[in-house]
Amino acid sequence: MPEEKPTRDHEHRPTKLGTEFITKFYRLLKGTAIYDRKNVNIDRLTQECVQVINNIVRSEGNLFLKIVRDNFFFNNIRIIVRADKFPIFKAFWQDMRKRWIGEVEFSEEVKGEHLRDLIYLLSGLEENNESNYLYVKKQLEYRGIESIEVGKLEFYRDEEIHIDSEEQKKYSKEVYFKSISLVKEVVDGINQQKALNIRKAKRLMQNAVNAIMQDDSTLLGLANIKNYDEYSFNHSVNVAIYAIALGQRIGIPKKHLSHLGMAGLFHDMGKTKIPREILNKTGKLSPEEWSLMRSHPVIGTELIMRMKEWGELSTRMIEGAFEHHLRYDLTGYPRLTRKRKISLFGRIISIADFYDALVRPRVYNRFPYVSEKILGIMLERSGKDFDPAVVKVLINMIGIFPLGTLVLLNTNEMGIVTQIQEEAELIDRPKVCLLYYSDGAYRKGKAVDLREMDEATRNFKRSVVKTLDPNEYNINVAEFFL
Ligand SMILES: [Fe+2]
Ligand SMILES: [Fe+2]
Repeated sequence: MPEEKPTRDHEHRPTKLGTEFITKFYRLLKGTAIYDRKNVNIDRLTQECVQVINNIVRSEGNLFLKIVRDNFFFNNIRIIVRADKFPIFKAFWQDMRKRWIGEVEFSEEVKGEHLRDLIYLLSGLEENNESNYLYVKKQLEYRGIESIEVGKLEFYRDEEIHIDSEEQKKYSKEVYFKSISLVKEVVDGINQQKALNIRKAKRLMQNAVNAIMQDDSTLLGLANIKNYDEYSFNHSVNVAIYAIALGQRIGIPKKHLSHLGMAGLFHDMGKTKIPREILNKTGKLSPEEWSLMRSHPVIGTELIMRMKEWGELSTRMIEGAFEHHLRYDLTGYPRLTRKRKISLFGRIISIADFYDALVRPRVYNRFPYVSEKILGIMLERSGKDFDPAVVKVLINMIGIFPLGTLVLLNTNEMGIVTQIQEEAELIDRPKVCLLYYSDGAYRKGKAVDLREMDEATRNFKRSVVKTLDPNEYNINVAEFFL
């Protein structure tokens, strides 16, 4: 979605106005999921949105928002999405796409009650119904609202459509497991001196980018699930996924995202030349073993340089392999004789790498850290080991409770986090799948949204009290998540 860097946005009027409108409109739309029509919060959100709409109508004559593919057009001019606004745009885009609504137009100043009618009409629409826009049109007509128009979402032939969320999940899973077997193939191939199937890797990473752009919860969820077997293969794929998801939020153009994925996928390629006994050693490494271990970025770089197949990609791949342990302030390894700046790809991959290494148990690190602790550690090292801007994006992306986290709620229920809210203020209120205990095991219960409020008491219905270790309860998170 965001193709440009956030430069001089303040001068681009359609972007400024369009962003203002979408932010308010989306907040209001989200509000309908939590509050009923008469709630004071809805009043406030409606008034804020009315103000923005009417200001725009007064100054521009009208307000016309159109979605074309993954772009937004404000009065026929494309909006340049700023990186910090990306989550809202993406969530709004997904919501509109699900409902097959691609246009909204206000030709005159709007009244609060009319806007409220529109917003509840939109939020009540069923998913994947192509004729939704006709229904909204009729309802607006019926209520005598002439100043608001909606239009159908147009799909383009070349667009990959993954509207069905089950289909989407299946697709994401396929990408994940295919990537794992590809990494295995590559590792075996290197040891047997076989040529690398780069085209296949590229295609897979393009698929991963598509899947993440549609909906990143399945792939990020898979990456977050702790798996004791075959950690090293999973690790490579996870780093690629975290890197793509981070890169997307930072605003790296789509075509470069798959390169970032490739660089993530092969960042530890040098480890294929380190003896297994050292890689899997549970005890302390001797100084010699450490220095061997620390040579993997250089070995990886050499391996990449030797392979002609990378072509133009090779610089990117080297950034991933060579720089991922260097650290932001260059205090890491390999030791450099001349100071240099770490590339953006290098900075992203080192954060993805560190995060995955901490979340996931290694042979010599049997218990993973809990998520709050990890993000705390990363914040503490922000600016020293890590690029502070990318750390911020990571924290926003992972949430305080990452996908797949087992949590205890104040209602004494246990649940597994299945979706993070896009808005930063609601980061502690994810969607959760409740668990219930029967026949000696925990089973999948109903899904709840921690943003839900109790109308009578005006408190949240459920809140997280603390995170729990799934191993202690013998819970296999993957089973619940997939
Ligand atoms: Fe590494
Ligand atoms: Fe790594």
